Amino acid sequence: MEELIKATKIGFSSTFSFYLKAHYFHWNVEGSDFLEYHELFGKIYEEVYGSIDDFAENIRKLGSYTPGSYTRLSMLSQIEDETAVLPKDAMVTELLTDNDKILKIIKLVYDLAEREGQHGLSNFLAERLDAHQKHGWMLRASLK
Ligand SMILES: [Fe+2]
Repeated sequence: MEELIKATKIGFSSTFSFYLKAHYFHWNVEGSDFLEYHELFGKIYEEVYGSIDDFAENIRKLGSYTPGSYTRLSMLSQIEDETAVLPKDAMVTELLTDNDKILKIIKLVYDLAEREGQHGLSNFLAERLDAHQKHGWMLRASLK
């Protein structure tokens, strides 16, 4: 159970970092097709942000406390912070790489949740996998 709690906190913190990066790219993207990318990043950050509260409350349901400070979130997150303003293709590539990482992390937490019989949590995580698969498709398609 401790392993599941730790992994869920890592999944949550990584998802929060991913959300913040998508929002950061939404704010700062530039180029002749600005609006398309602004909206692509917008769709992604809004969807992921919509999962944050449920994700956090799933940690409470496991009987642990949810991290909520920048310090704790950055300690637990496996998504690398981005401080530069990148060209738009580099933004898409980086977010796609991070999205693949999120898929791996969440799949791992999903397997642990199933092992522990936490089917409510694994059900939530299955929906997150589906959502991130869709984000991956949109990001990948934008690079062609
Ligand atoms: Fe906006």
